[in-house]
Amino acid sequence: MNTPPGLERVLFTEQQIQQRIREVAAEIDRRYQGRTLKLIGILKGSIFFLTDLARALTLPVKIDTLGISSFSNPGRSAGLVRISKDLDESIENEDVLVVEDIIDTGFTIRYLMQNLAARGPNSLGLCTLLDRTSRRIVQVPVDFRCFEIGESFVIGYGLDYKQLYRNLCYLAVINPERAV
Ligand code: IMP
Ligand code: MG
Repeated sequence: MNTPPGLERVLFTEQQIQQRIREVAAEIDRRYQGRTLKLIGILKGSIFFLTDLARALTLPVKIDTLGISSFSNPGRSAGLVRISKDLDESIENEDVLVVEDIIDTGFTIRYLMQNLAARGPNSLGLCTLLDRTSRRIVQVPVDFRCFEIGESFVIGYGLDYKQLYRNLCYLAVINPERAV
């Protein structure tokens, strides 16, 4: 794929992402030792992270997905979340780990965690690829995170700008004023 217009710099290379996922997967393996884990990927941003994380785990794993749409200016959510595709199966009595692309203000994930907690899982954890704690408005406990990032808008490895650039194998900072 050609370099996207407005790309300012690569934040994490494909190798750095894959290495960090292996480290976090080892932590998750230890934490849930002897149990079966249900991963819930939040669509669409977490798809590449979900598939790489799932394959880096040695635990027995089940996978389900939850689709959301948040009403917002491009990319950044305003805190209004709607479930556009629900889980396929019940999570009652399961050990559930939610897999998210990025936690920014926290509104999206807080809503989802409350929604999932009400369905009676045995445990409910949260794993995020990116965490931008500097913009947090509502507090959400994060159990596993790959990278803490700054204020700049990020694309690639699942993250989009106007639905583009999700298929980049790296994470990069984009200048939305110069992007298409
Ligand atoms: P929150 O509800 O403010 O935590 O927003 C989280 C959601 O906003 C994420 O799931 C992304 O869809 C989107 N988002 C926030 N920051 C970025 C970014 O830098 N790049 C792409 N999407 C982002
Ligand atoms: Mg998202």
